[in-house]
Amino acid sequence: MTAARISPSRLHETIAELSKIGRQSNGGITRLTFSNADIEARKYVSDLIRKAGMSVNIDKFGNTIGRSLNAPSDAPTIACGSHIDTVPNGGALDGAYGVLGAIEAIRSIHENYTPTKALQIIVFTEEEGGRFGAFIGSRGYAGLLNTSNVYAMRDKEHVTFQDAMHNAHLKPSMQFSRQQFNIRAYVELHIEQGPILEHEHKSIGIVQSIVGLGDLEIEIEGKAGHAGTTPMQLRRDALVGAARIILGVNRIALKTGIPAVATVGSVTAYPGAPNVIPGRVIINVDYRDTSLPRMRRLETKINSISKQVANESNLKIAIRRRSLTKPAKMSAKIVSMIETSSRSLGLSFKHMQSGAGHDCQNMARITRTGMIFVPSRNGLSHSPNEYTKPKQLENGANVLLETLLRLTNE
Ligand code: GLV
Ligand code: MN
Ligand code: MN
Repeated sequence: MTAARISPSRLHETIAELSKIGRQSNGGITRLTFSNADIEARKYVSDLIRKAGMSVNIDKFGNTIGRSLNAPSDAPTIACGSHIDTVPNGGALDGAYGVLGAIEAIRSIHENYTPTKALQIIVFTEEEGGRFGAFIGSRGYAGLLNTSNVYAMRDKEHVTFQDAMHNAHLKPSMQFSRQQFNIRAYVELHIEQGPILEHEHKSIGIVQSIVGLGDLEIEIEGKAGHAGTTPMQLRRDALVGAARIILGVNRIALKTGIPAVATVGSVTAYPGAPNVIPGRVIINVDYRDTSLPRMRRLETKINSISKQVANESNLKIAIRRRSLTKPAKMSAKIVSMIETSSRSLGLSFKHMQSGAGHDCQNMARITRTGMIFVPSRNGLSHSPNEYTKPKQLENGANVLLETLLRLTNE
């Protein structure tokens, strides 16, 4: 097979450049969907995609889609990609590495060969769910969401997805959709976001399956009032109710046991003043498991503890499922290609599960998929301290390049 390799200097330089966009004074990076930082990052990445020998289009969900120049739309296509939105105060690699690694791999392929299949990169809108909901771009691309539902989604300030996209001056091609393309496979490169590869001194993680995850938004309504004059017995404090629900969610996941997890990572109290009893609270529950039936049971229990707390505390409650993303299995064929590619590059590897969610699991609903992980220092991610050594980043991008070539030659 070939000796084509990515350019490490280009990869490292583009990671460093993109990490400046949305950088905050405390060192973290925040790029929420359609924010100014996201718009700037989209421009930067689109220019790189063009430099890699691809055309650029935006689909109706705001996904940026690059495709080998002059490839007929019905040509067999090998896709790859990830996301460039971040969690608030996130790191430089979650998502960004997969996008920049894929651009670099495709650029190197285009510089060295004329592949027999079209290559496509997809930079998915809102993977993190920081503004409207998790995986909007990949769920839309995979046909799991319809445009009118997505356009009506609202952020916490009640701005709709449609208005936010319009205000970002993106120009979606409404007729542009995946049905036009003959997608034969999708491969995603990502940091592990956990400690296993580092602990076991392995260069490459080969994902076999990805956990399923759900996102519930629970709105609790009580009665706002004066913190000094309202006797304790007469209060309907929405935040006290939220606190009881949070403890209940934690207990449910602990009792369910491995691999179930549940987290309340976002609490917004209104009106949000020290001397006002909170009258309204919104919390988000992220729950995960590797089996869909177990996920459903987890959700039922979270619903019932929330309703029980509301009843006992004279609070009103509304539970909205923002998303439910099914667990996914990777294609055995692509797993084996990633293995062969790692071997041919002399890299140690390990088969593993992903406890983090990825756009890849939605792509698994429409095509064969594979995922390549590289180590994360101290297992850290969703943190400004997210870090992977340059050589490890280079290794992962080379494994992606090799795997893409194998898929185009299949
Ligand atoms: C995706 O970033 C996740 O939360 O797993
Ligand atoms: Mn990610
Ligand atoms: Mn993430």
